[in-house]
Amino acid sequence: MERVAVRDEGTDDHVEVVDEVAREYAGRRGALIPLLQKVQSRIGYLSIDAMERIAERAGVPAAQVFGVATFYSQFRLAPVGRHIVKVCHGTACHVQGALAITEAITNELGVEGEGTTADGEFTIESVACLGCCSLAPVIMVDEDTFGRLTPDEARKIVKNYGD
Ligand code: FES
Repeated sequence: MERVAVRDEGTDDHVEVVDEVAREYAGRRGALIPLLQKVQSRIGYLSIDAMERIAERAGVPAAQVFGVATFYSQFRLAPVGRHIVKVCHGTACHVQGALAITEAITNELGVEGEGTTADGEFTIESVACLGCCSLAPVIMVDEDTFGRLTPDEARKIVKNYGD
């Protein structure tokens, strides 16, 4: 497996999603970030088409939307896999071997560092603290948290999600 394309132009579907979501926020001031969050939760990321449409619907320059989307790490500008694997590299997890955890997972999935597998199954992300340092080292797969992991346990966990 290898990484997929970094940017995607989006589709008409993305424009339709933005239009649907924008109707919920019509007339609300300061709704740009919630709008971006909602669109991302529907599409999985913020495509260029989606961001341009958000700018139109919000009545702000496209550059402002791109600026917000690139400033906050919560926003993604590329498609993500069906499962998102977050490997914590906060201080506690780093000390407890987060690098070895990352290496085990990337070897298992066949990607180098962060990125999305070519089959679109997994996206691997390095994150700061996941908020449960006493369980270090910690990973999250989708909404599930796993702690006190060995590299081999981490490898088996992601392997199970792929089955
Ligand atoms: S440093 Fe990893 S959960 Fe806090």
